[in-house]
Amino acid sequence: MKKTLLITGGAGFIGSHVVRLFVQKYPEYKIVNLDKLTYAGNLENLSDIEDSDNYVFEKGDIVDKQFIQLLFEKYDFNGVIHLAAESHVDRSITNPMDFIMTNVVGTVNLLNAAKNNWSENFEDKLFYHVSTDEVYGSLPETGLFLETTPYDPQSPYSSSKASSDHFVRAYGNTYGLPFVISNCSNNYGPNQFPEKLLPLFINNIRKNKELPVYGDGLFTRDWLFVEDHARAIDLIYHKGKNAETYNIGGFNEWTNIDLIKVMCIQMDEILGNEKGTSEQLITYVKDRPGHDKRYAIDASKIKNELSWEPSLQFEEGLQKTIQWYMNNQQWIDNVTTGDYQKYYVEQYGK
Ligand code: NAD
Ligand code: TYD
Repeated sequence: MKKTLLITGGAGFIGSHVVRLFVQKYPEYKIVNLDKLTYAGNLENLSDIEDSDNYVFEKGDIVDKQFIQLLFEKYDFNGVIHLAAESHVDRSITNPMDFIMTNVVGTVNLLNAAKNNWSENFEDKLFYHVSTDEVYGSLPETGLFLETTPYDPQSPYSSSKASSDHFVRAYGNTYGLPFVISNCSNNYGPNQFPEKLLPLFINNIRKNKELPVYGDGLFTRDWLFVEDHARAIDLIYHKGKNAETYNIGGFNEWTNIDLIKVMCIQMDEILGNEKGTSEQLITYVKDRPGHDKRYAIDASKIKNELSWEPSLQFEEGLQKTIQWYMNNQQWIDNVTTGDYQKYYVEQYGK
């Protein structure tokens, strides 16, 4: 094998798309997927590639320092693509410590292992940290997040991701660890856990349940199809410059309520419902505390320097996404049993 790569969080939403892309595109690489398999991790996401010769799964916790050290000794990694994280803002509001442990302590454990095991020779090594646009805070009605926008995280989730980004840069600056960071906007697509807006609402329409819109629904997000994020990660891993940051976005801003209405129309068409059926499920509920008003990315750096662009128009990506959830109802049913029911009642009161 030409290279051995550690991908953390590979059983999650974005991670599984990254693992699949690398396993299929680079048969000469050994891909080691490390995942704790929390509620958000699901090996079913990778059932199509799990028997590949260049793929290995390791179950473990990035917070477990000894386990991480032994893993680095076992595999002699050339690079790390770090996606493992607690990723849901609402959960970070009820349980911030889980976010500090995984997102901050877990990242520092990985950085230490990389620094200690690579310290003899950083040549051809790379620590790629996958982060979010939420570290930049909330935008007013105009303006875009640039790579140089000062950090201003507002939720426990974004604060933990911002902290981990700072540690990655500090290890680059202090110890010379080669790194890149990317900060991406909201992803959507197959295999996303149905606690996030789109899969939650698709599943609720399927079950004829209310669609709980926070506050006035006028919060704005930029949306990117998950496979386009995975392609960007591949490009940055191979062609990005050491110690650089790349913003990734879909050039695709929507208010929540407009996006939900488009989704409702598409769902009605796919389900063969009368027009307007799904929209009737929209219910305005209490706002998320500290809810960030607007995120919007200027992705011109990755576009200009690495020739990356989103491959799909949003309506097409949304249709592909809805179709995937409709064709994979067993997947949703499998991940929404047990603990999910408890989470749902705690979050939405019913
Ligand atoms: P996800 O919640 O779907 O998956 C996270 C994965 O990490 C799961 O497989 C989980 O089992 C694993 N994990 C969690 N804690 C772990 C631990 N302690 N040790 C090992 N594995 C652990 O998340 P996602 O949406 O796929 O996000 C992946 C990464 O991308 C995160 O770092 C997130 O901050 C970032 N990101 C996400 C988005 C988005 O829209 N989802 C946007 C930008 C950046
Ligand atoms: P989410 O998918 O949780 O991503 P993030 O908060 O990281 O952007 O939410 C996307 C938007 O949808 C955000 O403005 C919050 C809103 N939202 C609702 O209105 N209702 C819901 O039930 C959820 C989960 C999100």
